[in-house]
Amino acid sequence: MNDNKSTPDISPPRLRFNIGATRIDCGREPSIEDYEGLETLDSYLVDYSRAQTTPDQEELNAWLLQQAIDGASILHVGAGNSSVARLSASRARWITSVTVSKNEKEVAESLALANYSCALINKYSTSFSNSLPAIRYDFILDNNLASFVCCQRHFETYMRGLVSLMAEDGILATHWLGMQWICEADAFRVDAAWRLDAHTLGIIADAFCLTTERHSDTFLIKRRKPSGR
Ligand SMILES: C[S@@+](CC[C@H](N)C(=O)[O-])C[C@H]1O[C@@H](n2cnc3c(N)ncnc32)[C@H](O)[C@@H]1O
Repeated sequence: MNDNKSTPDISPPRLRFNIGATRIDCGREPSIEDYEGLETLDSYLVDYSRAQTTPDQEELNAWLLQQAIDGASILHVGAGNSSVARLSASRARWITSVTVSKNEKEVAESLALANYSCALINKYSTSFSNSLPAIRYDFILDNNLASFVCCQRHFETYMRGLVSLMAEDGILATHWLGMQWICEADAFRVDAAWRLDAHTLGIIADAFCLTTERHSDTFLIKRRKPSGR
């Protein structure tokens, strides 16, 4: 008898790329609760609400300010002290940031910027892209693309979400320092393969029909154009 309804799907998830990650599927839905306790124990990792902007974020911010951000929509993943919103709110149309830290969200809200909102959500969760305002972003900044990732399946979910949020000519910007940094706290133990370099970032981008450009330590990820355009 072929009872398909009661047969659990035990086939391995089909992957888009291979950069040597060993934890393919963590088997649970990523959530902000995964970070509970870390805000106080390891505030340097998670709660940057009152910390100085990191050097990599500073460089991404400097790059952003040189772009055509007047009237643009900006997604800042890893809100920290809301540096992106504070620098760009007077020019951008809309800024959304993402955080797992309640304190960072509180600081974001305390700025009372009419065109800025901060979402408290785990970016690797399945509901990430649907939880944000329905906007296509011209600029997406994430200096820690894979630094906190639980497994490849959820990283791929995140990348799919980012691509769906990116405007046609949108740019996803990341930075060498954050690419090279992975969270080694006990609760995470991020697989060493996620210490990204230009080669592995290129493999990931390619798997999502994207291209990468390196400008010093800033990496720009864009949609691959059909040849001839
Ligand atoms: C090291 S802080 C960096 C803050 C800011 N980007 C900067 O560089 O100044 C890490 C940031 O990533 C956020 N973060 C960490 N894991 C996350 C996840 N799974 N989903 C969403 N945000 C996350 C934290 O809330 C925090 O804002």
